[in-house]
Amino acid sequence: MQKYSEQYTYIGKMDREDVYSIIAYIRTLKADPSEPKESVSNFPMNFIIHLIPQKPNFTTKPDEKDIVKYGAYVANQAGCVECHTPDEKGQIIPGKEWQGNREFMLPTGGYIHTSNITQDVETGIGKWTEEQFVRKFKSYADSNYKPAPVDKNTYNTFMPWSYYAGMKETDLKAIYAYLKTIKPVSNKVDKFTLASIKK
Ligand code: HEC
Repeated sequence: MQKYSEQYTYIGKMDREDVYSIIAYIRTLKADPSEPKESVSNFPMNFIIHLIPQKPNFTTKPDEKDIVKYGAYVANQAGCVECHTPDEKGQIIPGKEWQGNREFMLPTGGYIHTSNITQDVETGIGKWTEEQFVRKFKSYADSNYKPAPVDKNTYNTFMPWSYYAGMKETDLKAIYAYLKTIKPVSNKVDKFTLASIKK
């Protein structure tokens, strides 16, 4: 799979208290005695790797009543923009945020492309009502739910639907309100292709 996670950058923009909560949660997980092998990087990664970490840029969690700001905060925490933006060598292309068409190779063969989630009515989610948006996420809350295959050979998605299904409805509504402020961009995405569309 291609690298997509620059998750540290997003976590670094959270409220310090929320980061502490994640740490507190991780400490409740059952200890696993297995010892992972030490990770070794070859040249030049062994040098580059030390330049990657950046200092966090913590923010203050907005009031939930300030729904758009709060939605932006939750969407950042969830890393939505990372997948829903095309990339060049693993870095999202500035100016193309939310337009979708980031490509991931599927383990079952073929490629999946993320959706345009700008407010464009034809190619984005401009037509979606708040209720539809929340229902789409919540439909994955039941762990027995199996989405219908999109293609007979290649059902799969990298959209973490079942994780997000556990979000509070008010958080999903806040993300919806924030996405409503995203400028519509017409960008038709072919969800599945057999060959890579990347040059
Ligand atoms: C790991 C990558 C990844 C992340 C992170 C991610 N998405 Fe997605 N998303 C996808 C892919 C791939 C699709 C297209 C396949 C599908 O519909 O399952 C998709 C589809 C969608 C759709 C359906 C659009 C349509 O037209 O059917 C919505 C809405 C959506 N994502 C919103 C979000 C939001 C909001 C977040 C953050 C809370 C998010 N995504 C985070 C990969 C991701």
